[in-house]
Formats: sequence, C-alpha cells, structure tokens
Amino acid sequence: MILAEKLFNCFKGKDSFTLNEAYLENKEKPKTTVRARIYENLGIRFERIAKGIYKTIDSNDEACILIEGDGRNLSILKDESIDCIFTDHPWLDLKSNKGGTRAFALYDCFKYTYDDFKEKARVLKKGCFLVEVLPAENANNYEYLYQIKQYAKDAGLIYYSKVTWKKGNFVSNTGRKAKNTQDIMIFSKGKARRMRYDKKKSDINGMDCYMSGCKGMLPTMFDVSPVSKKVRIHQSELPISLCEQILEFVTYEGEVVLDSFAGSGVVGEAALKLKRSCVLIEILKENIEKIKSRFERNILFQSVLE
Ligand SMILES: C[S@@+](CC[C@H](N)C(=O)[O-])C[C@H]1O[C@@H](n2cnc3c(N)ncnc32)[C@H](O)[C@@H]1O
Repeated sequence: MILAEKLFNCFKGKDSFTLNEAYLENKEKPKTTVRARIYENLGIRFERIAKGIYKTIDSNDEACILIEGDGRNLSILKDESIDCIFTDHPWLDLKSNKGGTRAFALYDCFKYTYDDFKEKARVLKKGCFLVEVLPAENANNYEYLYQIKQYAKDAGLIYYSKVTWKKGNFVSNTGRKAKNTQDIMIFSKGKARRMRYDKKKSDINGMDCYMSGCKGMLPTMFDVSPVSKKVRIHQSELPISLCEQILEFVTYEGEVVLDSFAGSGVVGEAALKLKRSCVLIEILKENIEKIKSRFERNILFQSVLE
C-alpha cells in the first residue's frame, strides 16, 4: 500500500485529522514525507479545513492510484494484489521506425527482460490475466515478440490468446507493408480462472457453472479506430472503447487493474467507467499531469521518484 493510500484509509470517514495524528500513524516515515503526501492530494483525496487540520474527501466509488515512478519496479505492490495487468510498454524498435513518415516515440523506450515478467507474475493473482498491447509482427521485431512470449512462459504466465486490433480504416506507411493492426496478447497466471459461463453444465446441474477462461469467446479482431490526432492527449493513446471491450472480457466489477506504463491514463479511465479500480504508473511528469487532468476525482497521487 502506498503512503497516500494508507493515510487515506486511516482517516477515511472521520470528521477531521491533524498533521500530528498523521505523523503518529506513520512514525517510521519522516514528517516531511507524510506532509508531502497529504499536500500532493489536496483537492483530490484530502481537503484542508483549518491550519494543520484536514479531512478525507470520501467516496464509495472505485478509485485510481496514480504513481509517478518506474513501472518496471513494482516493489510498491504486494504479491498477488492485482486482478489484471493491461499495458502497452514503450517498445524499442528503432529499425521499424526509421525514415518515411513514421513518428518517433517522444518518450524513453526499452526492451522487456525476463525480470519484467517475473514482477508481473508476482503481483498478479492466480488465474488472472495479463494483457500486453504489442506491435504487429515484422522482419525487425519478430524475434523480440517471440522472446516476450518465452519470458512470460518462464515466469509462469501462460499464452491464453492473441487478438488483432484492427485500427478501422486508418493505414500507416511503414515501408514494406501498409500497416493498420497491432496485437493484443493475453496471458493467464497459471491456468486461467473460471469466468466463462458453461450453459450446458449449468442446465444439467440447475446452478451457474463456469469453465476456465475469460468471460466469453474472444473475437477474431477488435475493430476500433485509433484516437484522432486532434483529440488525443498522448502520442500512443489507446482508444477507450478498445480498453473497455478488453477489460469486460478479463475482469469483474470491483477488481483492480494495473497499467505500469500508463501514458495518457486511458486504461484507468476505462477501468473506472466499468467500476473497476486502477493503479497507474507513469515515469514522465508531463504525462502525470495529463493523467491527473483526465480524472476529476477519485484519484490518489504519489511520486516514488524522489
Ligand atoms: C506506449 S505509451 C502508453 C500509452 C498508453 N497505453 C495510452 O493509451 O495512453 C508508453 C508510456 O510508458 C511511459 N514509460 C516509459 N518508460 C517507463 C517506465 N520505466 N515506467 C513507467 N512509464 C514509462 C512513457 O512515458 C509512455 O507514456
């Protein structure tokens, strides 16, 4: 649990609390750190009612925890605390992006390693799903895409399914081939949990029965247009309807979704719209500000970069 969340839970429902009470509840932390966590969340999760006296802004709705930090370091999250990881990592593929009219990423990119998947598997609950948005395969990236599946497997994440995301009628020029797809790669931690309604068994037994797998049969493709340049707030922003469709298949209301490379925060917005909670991690300050502006309320912020 991050400190901002601990503070919020500690004083939730109380008429007020003082800074001293907050310090006493968190004796192991420097006073300046405790105070900073409250100040960062003023107007979002805490309000100041008098000098040194605060109150939580309570709500029964699902919440977003926004962390300014490195999404490859998930040490702030407990083992098996997340119901779904849904992320689009900033993949490094300079060769595929060379020349032409292609846009270069405006953020730092990297290649996943085995440790990334080990951490994902650690925080994900058993049977739950990891959704990775990946580039369409080409001559430059096919080995890396294979490597990702291998890392996932070695970490105990089983290949569940791959669904193409067709970007409506949008076509981008990437040299050899007109490109308008990406892949939505889905893994489960061990055997997939039972989300899939089994009508035959339910009819025989007279009670609801479920079989292993996500909620329904996944489509051949998700056909969703990309977010237009005019309205998007992030270079690689995923369409919210794509995120919603996917989350509907792999999560239930009330569950917690993690996006460790949050970008515009759209996965979090989709989660909240569907009554799921979310943990968003993003490294760039400018994106953190964009994410904050996406959520008017129900957001707890903490920086772990300092
Ligand atoms: C492909 S974009 C994600 C776009 C996002 N899915 C959306 O729809 O808006 C990848 C994001 O990861 C961020 N990023 C890069 N390295 C990171 C790291 N180590 N930890 C957290 N975020 C990182 C980048 O700043 C960028 O915003």
